[in-house]
Amino acid sequence: MTNKTSIQGSWASRWIFILAATGSAVGLGNIWKFPYITGENGGGAFVLVYLVCIVLVGIPIMMAEVFIGRRARKNPINALVDVAEESEGSKKWGLIGLMGMLSGVFIFSFYSVVAGWVLHYIKVMLTGEMANVTSEQAGAAFGALLADPATLLIWHTIFSIMSIAVVAAGINKGIETATRIMMPALFVLLLILLGYAMTTDGFAAGVDFMFHFDASQLSWNAVLVALGHSFFTLSLGMGTIMAYGSYMTKKASIGKTVLAIGALDTIVALVAGLAIFPIIFANNMDPAAGSGLMFMSLPVAFGQMPFGQLFGVLFFVLVGIAAWTSAISLLEPTVAFLVEKFEMKRTSASILLGSGVWALGLACLGSFNVISDVTFFGKNTFDLLDYITANIMLPLGGILIALFAGWVVKDKFAQDELELSDTVFKLWKISMKFTAPVAVAIVLYFLLFPMS
Ligand code: TRP
Repeated sequence: MTNKTSIQGSWASRWIFILAATGSAVGLGNIWKFPYITGENGGGAFVLVYLVCIVLVGIPIMMAEVFIGRRARKNPINALVDVAEESEGSKKWGLIGLMGMLSGVFIFSFYSVVAGWVLHYIKVMLTGEMANVTSEQAGAAFGALLADPATLLIWHTIFSIMSIAVVAAGINKGIETATRIMMPALFVLLLILLGYAMTTDGFAAGVDFMFHFDASQLSWNAVLVALGHSFFTLSLGMGTIMAYGSYMTKKASIGKTVLAIGALDTIVALVAGLAIFPIIFANNMDPAAGSGLMFMSLPVAFGQMPFGQLFGVLFFVLVGIAAWTSAISLLEPTVAFLVEKFEMKRTSASILLGSGVWALGLACLGSFNVISDVTFFGKNTFDLLDYITANIMLPLGGILIALFAGWVVKDKFAQDELELSDTVFKLWKISMKFTAPVAVAIVLYFLLFPMS
């Protein structure tokens, strides 16, 4: 095991790493995206494929990312290069890190717009503008928000500045404090919402929708979305977890830690779904309503429950924080790279990168109004960036990381970090060499060449 430390600092303990990585993993992907893509892709069958992808592909790749980062203690590009050289592999593996940075920029630009919607809903809940709304009114209010570029711009800008500020402050001061208090609070609030959902007459329908396996609902596209989302929700395929791993202490066991993160992330997503779908069915709304699903359904529920306004404010505050701890992790690998490669100050690097992603975000927020007619392959900018990152760039990054860890890195170096029992190590190797790459390749193949 190496005794190096990263020049960026390191986490105070194993728990802080778990919290920070969970803070990165748990975000809009769990609470906003998972329910709505489950709705669009027919429910139970989709959920099952998603769970299989988390276990067979996501968790093993997360282990690879953590160990590569921790071994080299550098930003993802340099970490890949160092670990490749140690095993006499090509330096070109570093290019995965470069693609990862681009993915981070793309994801941040639309992520920040959605986080802006969340901030707007905090305000709306506080002022009581949405008290006692019907589902039609909630839908209309969400539509009106999307049609209003000035409001979107304000919130997108505020959220971008919040994220840049934390990254600029460095990993210890910024990221740790936010995660430590907020993640448990978010979980409690989700349980309260779940409790409310259980009292609605849509609960049975909600559970049935999420857990009833109906193979006829499954298309290759749904499998692709499930696979892509397993990368997105665990923050894999772009170097985030590699960067966070580079700040991890040597003592902690990677396998157990990664399992904890994967389990927490999955539980939050499932609870979010179980909280949202009953409300959808109790109010005769459409589960396939798309990206506005959470914003159109939850205000209706808050309007009907005791202390709804209070819970409403709290809920959106916590989702905002979950989004925040994820957004900073999208910037961290690139900032670490700029600091290490070009000797930039952390603050300058954060502002430079932050301005770029903010600007690209303008195209995403305009997708719903002023530039809604600008489309590529029939998708507006927002949908396009969401689609190519989650469904193409992250899986591709993941497959390459798996191939690298499975075929290039020598066993003794991998085991030096992972310290798995022989059997578990063999299983992990099989996943890296075959299962993960083949699964991703098959899905991408059928997406590009659909069976008619
Ligand atoms: N995992 C986060 C979510 O579910 C989003 C995220 C943060 C992410 N960092 C990432 C996604 C890196 C992919 C890669 O909301």
